[in-house]
Amino acid sequence: MSNYVLIPCAGSGSRFGGVTQKQYTKIGDKTVIEHTLNVFLQIPEIAEIVVVVSNSDTDIDKYALISPKIRVARVGSDTRAKTVLNGLNVLNCEVDDWVLVHDAARCCISPKTIKDMLLKLTEDKVGGILAIPVSDTLKYSNNEVIIKTVDRNSLYHAQTPQMFRYNVLHKALSSCDLSVITDDASAVEALGLPVRLFQGEVSNIKLTYPSDIKLAEFYLGAKC
Ligand code: CTP
Ligand code: MG
Repeated sequence: MSNYVLIPCAGSGSRFGGVTQKQYTKIGDKTVIEHTLNVFLQIPEIAEIVVVVSNSDTDIDKYALISPKIRVARVGSDTRAKTVLNGLNVLNCEVDDWVLVHDAARCCISPKTIKDMLLKLTEDKVGGILAIPVSDTLKYSNNEVIIKTVDRNSLYHAQTPQMFRYNVLHKALSSCDLSVITDDASAVEALGLPVRLFQGEVSNIKLTYPSDIKLAEFYLGAKC
């Protein structure tokens, strides 16, 4: 089975703000998308990396040139899930090949964590995701008053990569409401299929707000 990486990179970064889109913001000597691509380029088991950008994107081409393994697909859409489904539709892979969907904005992931997941899922029929256990005490509230404390023992923060057999993910995303889901696993869960959880990294943050840049600088610096 081959492993394909699909990077949704078509978001507008409304919470991040600024003039430069967050995926093209520089951290150290590289942009966020270059850091992300470099992680996957360190994994020889990856056959191809498809970066899905919006049709109007004028920045991606120079970063795609860093390796022949990278292909740009200008089929991004107005939600992450639609961008991913459009990307799946232009992948040239077999039905049971693996697809690893990874946010362009998660540039601090380590190759080792991804390689571990590839190994653990080798024989699996569905797929799995990276996640980390919730460590804070959780409150359920209405109108800023606590209704109850939620047992955190079974709760996780979902991360990416989220890795699925191509046919499973394609069927899942083709049959769910793409305007409401915020990750790929939730579409597969809705089919009633078992999605496995693997230990992610606390440092595998998704750049969301401008203050996340400082954190990403720290984590990327620690890995050099
Ligand atoms: N993404 C995408 N297409 C969209 C929305 C998001 O490809 N229509 C991508 C983003 O580029 C990002 C990843 O999905 O790499 C995670 O999304 P998020 O962090 O929410 O990024 P944005 O949607 O760009 O940010 P915001 O929600 O603040 O607007
Ligand atoms: Mg978003």
